[in-house]
Amino acid sequence: MKRPIAELWGSGSYTPTRVMTNDEFSKFLETSDQWIRERTGIRERRVASPQETNACMGKAAAEQALRETGLTALDLDALVVATCSPDRLLPAQACDLQAILGAKRAAAFDVQAACTGFLYALTVAEGLVASEQAQHVLVVASEKLTTITDWQDRTTAVLFGDGAGATIVRRSTNGRGILSSCLKSDGTLAELLYRPGGGAVHPPDEQLLKDRSYYIKMAGREVFKAAVLSMADACDQALQRAGLTAAEIDLLIPHQANIRIIEATAKHARVPMDKVYVNVDRYGNTSAASVAIALDEAVRTGRLEPGMKVMFVAFGAGFTWASMVVQW
Ligand code: ACO
Repeated sequence: MKRPIAELWGSGSYTPTRVMTNDEFSKFLETSDQWIRERTGIRERRVASPQETNACMGKAAAEQALRETGLTALDLDALVVATCSPDRLLPAQACDLQAILGAKRAAAFDVQAACTGFLYALTVAEGLVASEQAQHVLVVASEKLTTITDWQDRTTAVLFGDGAGATIVRRSTNGRGILSSCLKSDGTLAELLYRPGGGAVHPPDEQLLKDRSYYIKMAGREVFKAAVLSMADACDQALQRAGLTAAEIDLLIPHQANIRIIEATAKHARVPMDKVYVNVDRYGNTSAASVAIALDEAVRTGRLEPGMKVMFVAFGAGFTWASMVVQW
């Protein structure tokens, strides 16, 4: 088994207080609680208020992780934010977070890998630690997806939610840390899950508002199939690279998009569902924040304890997908 270079130290998360149930959608969309629960496993999601910005949610999650480690924002050498729903398009979300966190010494930048962003950001942080660029890297995954979701489109509106999670990456102590990781992407499939308008190809104009191309568009069935196949393969890769078998994994934390995708991934990975962390019922799909929130909950509820081996796996727009095995 590989000796880890970097470890995840402390965790935090924040989810908005406003809970939105499935029944609320059926008041303005042709949908039902039953359809949403049966097809996705989602019962409710959190919706951020205008005051709960991406930066504010990220700050709350980060401060929790910092408190746990005894570090202050001034101890941070780098701050990496994984998000696809930043408060503004320029500068990076990480710079806005740096400002309100007071992380004056840190280099701040974003990683955009949609729902896979947290795992990509952790791998970047591991690299910063390995190259001795940084001693303490704050990794925050924060999303305000409800602002880029088309509330008139029942095929996407019911799926997404808001929230943030955080951890600190530092040099490994006592054999703890990242045992393996696997990052993949396939840009030829981008248009199965994307936001067509609002960028340099289609800058904001009246047409953009009319055709609603500013919002997330998704070919759900195709994404579903690709998510299962990709996450299954990523689990195999991470296990192989760590020199472990599925039986040696104590907890699987998959991206929380759909309970049926989670079940199919776990089945392929040969991890029984009682070793799989699930909170998609309470938060829906929070994209990059999904694995980060689940990780923090798993720690706080005692599902993830020191000495355990945890595997993360995620899939998202790009397409991007990734996995990671961590000695906790
Ligand atoms: N309520 C009621 N009916 C609906 C709804 C809804 N909210 N949404 C779709 N339907 C209808 C469809 O219109 C379709 O009707 P039709 O048969 O008359 O055409 C029918 O339900 C079945 O639609 P499907 O798309 O085949 O339903 P499916 O079982 O595939 O479930 C879902 C759809 C939940 C979107 C699923 O495909 C899925 O989870 N896809 C993957 C999403 C995902 O993992 N995304 C990850 C990345 S997200 C990111 O990166 C930001």
